[in-house]
Amino acid sequence: MRMPDWIPVAGFPALEDNQVHIWRLIHAPHQRKVSGYLPFLSTEEWSRADRLIHPHVRAAFILTRGVLRILISRYLDIPPGEVRLEVDSSGKPHLAQPSLEEIVHFNTSHTRGLSLYIFTRSRPVGIDVEEIHPAAEYTSIMQNFFPPVETRLIAALPEDQRRSAFYALWTQKESLAKAIGIGIASGLVGQALGGNERLPDAELITNVGGTRWRVWNFLPGPGFSAAAAVQENEWQVNYLDFCTQ
Ligand SMILES: CC(C)(COP(=O)(O)OP(=O)(O)OC[C@H]1O[C@@H](n2cnc3c(N)ncnc32)[C@H](O)[C@@H]1OP(=O)(O)O)[C@@H](O)C(=O)NCCC(=O)NCCS
Repeated sequence: MRMPDWIPVAGFPALEDNQVHIWRLIHAPHQRKVSGYLPFLSTEEWSRADRLIHPHVRAAFILTRGVLRILISRYLDIPPGEVRLEVDSSGKPHLAQPSLEEIVHFNTSHTRGLSLYIFTRSRPVGIDVEEIHPAAEYTSIMQNFFPPVETRLIAALPEDQRRSAFYALWTQKESLAKAIGIGIASGLVGQALGGNERLPDAELITNVGGTRWRVWNFLPGPGFSAAAAVQENEWQVNYLDFCTQ
């Protein structure tokens, strides 16, 4: 899989109607100085941060949420402190003001050391990043969640390709489910994305409930796997690096 050209961005690019912006935030290993982001967080996010015991987990949460609010505020052209979020019944966050919801759609995913954000105008989006654990057992996840055909197709691959194939498929399904805003209990993850003969390509169009979705894998960095999903359209995708102060 190709590593996209991640563009370091000092300013802030406009989001055109035909564009998807994917932002990458790399957490510095020593990232402790996150207090500058605290004023952007809501009361609920402050309490959630307070409940996180490990300093690095707490710092990562504050950083991820703070940057989410900064990015949304720039797309909406309002101060970060005025961004109001709420979650739907599946847990998917969206803008609290319905009038703004159609102006910018977003989703986020984070794992140890990395956060990703995806934005469009007017179309729901989903994103997922996973750290690839070289020693983690993934076959039981496949057996529990994937349809037998996908488990069989992955098992038939050369051994050195199976793990990355699993993560590619897992992130595709997560990003699609997150775009639609449905949870793990939905039947979606049990459906074969590539049909009964083959695993899906790194980029595919799939029809769910009468809506066509574009789902694609991309590399966010060595040791990670990621995918994004958005309703089908002629999209131009920009990969942008968020520079922390
Ligand atoms: C809740 C869920 C989205 C969390 O996924 P995860 O990999 O643990 O975490 P990620 O970092 O990718 O995403 C977390 C973010 O997604 C967003 N999110 C939470 N629930 C969401 C939902 N139902 N839909 C879309 N986005 C959601 C939030 O912004 C959350 O950020 P937070 O942790 O700061 O609150 C996931 O467990 C889930 O239910 N996924 C549905 C898809 C599914 O069935 N997956 C199985 C794949 S085979």
